[in-house]
Amino acid sequence: MKNKSLVSISDYSREEILRILELAAEFEQQPRQDLLKGKVVASLFFEPSTRTRLSFESAIQQLGGSVIGFASADTSSVRKGESLKDTILTVSNYSDLIVMRHPVDGSARYASEVSPVPIVNAGDGANQHPTQCLLDLYSIKKTQGRLEGLDVAFVGDLKYGRTVHSLVIALTQFNARFHLVSPPELKLPSAVKRYIKEAKLEYYQYTDLNEVIPNCDILYMTRIQRERFPDPLDYEKVKNSYNLNNQMLANSRPNLKVLHPLPRVNEINVDVDSNPKAYYFEQALNGVYVRQAIVASILGLK
Ligand code: CP
Repeated sequence: MKNKSLVSISDYSREEILRILELAAEFEQQPRQDLLKGKVVASLFFEPSTRTRLSFESAIQQLGGSVIGFASADTSSVRKGESLKDTILTVSNYSDLIVMRHPVDGSARYASEVSPVPIVNAGDGANQHPTQCLLDLYSIKKTQGRLEGLDVAFVGDLKYGRTVHSLVIALTQFNARFHLVSPPELKLPSAVKRYIKEAKLEYYQYTDLNEVIPNCDILYMTRIQRERFPDPLDYEKVKNSYNLNNQMLANSRPNLKVLHPLPRVNEINVDVDSNPKAYYFEQALNGVYVRQAIVASILGLK
């Protein structure tokens, strides 16, 4: 993984994924170290973020590294018309690694092709979010004691949900059964379903959330993302499709955990937060250890 960009979760083999999870568990035991002393990581966020940006920054600073960058394209020279290529070539002069979030699908791959330093994709449009995927896998393994053979339900925006795309692809390496719950307009794209088919795994499609709750180990809720809809009227039609509440979890499996990449809007009622099956805030904390593992391994320090 040394000096290798992380653009799509399919860039990592099963062994590489497991190695990151193993390293993350080590960092969870000892998150404050001097491992990144003298290293500079650039954090370029052309799109809003709370968890990804701040957990990367916390991860790096806890390891003694420095962070430079911007949290919005508005404060960079992109606003003056600078191209992504020129931005990447410039920032690579100042840093050892670039973490980038960008609204355009494929922008992270393009950046990795022009950059002399490794690129870590922190989300590119509706395409991929591989570091979220690794922290999701870490959370699943930590709560279920295994990754193999789980029933995983994905709920909400499966069409534009980059976290869903990455996690589905990764779980095809671990023999998951996929329960796909969405409005008809927001079904999982066929390009992602192809990974499930090629792995000869089963998937089932639903519109009713109540149907899957008793039969899954992981309930992966997602937000219907207003910002991805070309027509705002189409968003209005589906925005209230799902609202998970505590009572709906009554007949769920004892080991069930509710995950969500966050932010949430209205798809999980706040009454779920106090249920021991709710795991989304711990999931966000796991992002620090997993991102420490990703940065340390790409910089060849682990
Ligand atoms: N999960 C996630 O990507 O959250 P942010 O948009 O807050 O970074």
